[in-house]
Amino acid sequence: MYKLIDLPKIPRSGVGDLTFIEGQNHIPFEIKRVYYIYNTRDGEQRGRHAYKTIQSLIVALSGKFDITLDDGRDRVKISLSSPDCGLYVPAMTWKELDNFSAGAVCLVLVSDLYREDDYIRDYGVFISEARLLRR
Ligand code: TYD
Repeated sequence: MYKLIDLPKIPRSGVGDLTFIEGQNHIPFEIKRVYYIYNTRDGEQRGRHAYKTIQSLIVALSGKFDITLDDGRDRVKISLSSPDCGLYVPAMTWKELDNFSAGAVCLVLVSDLYREDDYIRDYGVFISEARLLRR
């Protein structure tokens, strides 16, 4: 199940805030890879895929955007806009990201290295694999 995680925030008046994330501590996996999405264009959609085994944590480092999550049964839309809040996305979750504000930066912490064979990029295939898993 997806979950919103409150991340530690060290406020320092006058100099700014600091947030940190430790693998297996604040999130339920070791961080093996980090990527970020930026320079998005108005109306652009990202994602539209699911990872078969990879877990991730998505953080709006700057600006805001929406994430639609679909586990093959339920669909939920979540807005992220705070660098001290992360969205944990388990494996086998279809995700779509859109409505990026100007200058938005989407940070993604991931449980494994990039492997194209861990992607499901076809929604119909995702739905049938999710159904099989539930049996
Ligand atoms: P993709 O995951 O489809 O991006 P998004 O979900 O933002 O739409 O990846 C886009 C391209 O970048 C694709 O060709 C694979 C490549 N890529 C890597 O090489 N390494 C990575 O860690 C990621 C996330 C993508």
